[in-house]
Amino acid sequence: MFQTREDAPTLALAPMQAVTDLPFWKILHARGGPDVYWTEFARVHIHSTPSSERDILQAIRENPSGKPAILQLIGSDIPKLIEAAQYYEKEPVAAIDLNLGCPAPRVCSNHAGGALLRQPEKIDAILTALRDAITEVGFTVKTRLGFTTDEEFSRLLEVFSKHRLDALSIHGRTVVGKYKTTIGYDHIQRAAETLPYPVLANGNVLSPRTAAETLARTGAAGLMIGRGCIRNPFLFAQIRDGRAAPTYREILTYIEDLWESMRPANPKGRLSKIKRYLAFIGQGISEGQFLNEAQRTRDPDDFHRICHTHLSSNEAFPDEPPGDNALFRGVLPIQDKTAS
Ligand SMILES: Cc1cc2nc3c(=O)[nH]c(=O)nc-3n(C[C@H](O)[C@H](O)[C@H](O)COP(=O)(O)O)c2cc1C
Repeated sequence: MFQTREDAPTLALAPMQAVTDLPFWKILHARGGPDVYWTEFARVHIHSTPSSERDILQAIRENPSGKPAILQLIGSDIPKLIEAAQYYEKEPVAAIDLNLGCPAPRVCSNHAGGALLRQPEKIDAILTALRDAITEVGFTVKTRLGFTTDEEFSRLLEVFSKHRLDALSIHGRTVVGKYKTTIGYDHIQRAAETLPYPVLANGNVLSPRTAAETLARTGAAGLMIGRGCIRNPFLFAQIRDGRAAPTYREILTYIEDLWESMRPANPKGRLSKIKRYLAFIGQGISEGQFLNEAQRTRDPDDFHRICHTHLSSNEAFPDEPPGDNALFRGVLPIQDKTAS
């Protein structure tokens, strides 16, 4: 499933709730796209019914890319997880994935997502049950390094190594570290060296440079990329095919395509939704002025005017956002090649 390209690392789209839906998959695919598409998470709990996850089902059924799609589950109730996995494995998916990393308080307070990292024995039981239950497609897991500290990772690795997974994606932070800390590359490297199945390294891959450094530091079989491809949807093609950085005008077209793709159709609803993507795209543009103006406006026409004012140039969009911004923390520093 992860050997989509011979002798080259697999590039996967990270699961992102309220972002990685079918319209976003289409936007990425039109720009080269990843080798594997993850869905948003499907919630699994005592009252959930798989058939009600309409957006997720639409994405996997209408997947425009011809590439594998992997559907992510979040939950901790074993009978319900089995029921959901067996429902979804009949759909056009390459694998079912289990979320062991979400830090959202609503999820953690239900003892699911990242909260499960406090209970390795429970993870062991869930992996045993799901590995047995999923027979028609692959079974993968996405984890963080621990709940409170990365010292927890050794125990987690013991558990992961007991199970015949098809891949493990590792966001190299703890749950408490949210999105703020640097990435624990050494831990990902240890997992990549010791596990008998592919490991995907995740966290702060924002550019061809950070992609190459992450692969070099971890020896992972591939990369999973989230916020970096919201900021720049050409990123997969840049890493894989050596495509040139997009121009600002290409970023403008991307924003216009996002606008067109957004549901609900009501322009005010689209405006509030597109602002969530802009927070990632706009870091540093016109020294913060673009984001400032675009986030403040409540008028769709004004929004388009602001985008055209700041994004109509044919200059190259910077490969990385400025180092001092709040949304992308702990990015690998640029090495000074002249230093000895
Ligand atoms: C808006 C948003 C939604 C996310 N939703 C999910 C999710 O549904 N499941 C999941 O496993 N991780 C989710 N994540 C975490 C990402 O998959 C990824 O692990 C994290 O952003 C670090 O990778 P990055 O630095 O490439 O963004 C989400 C992240 C963001 C920013």
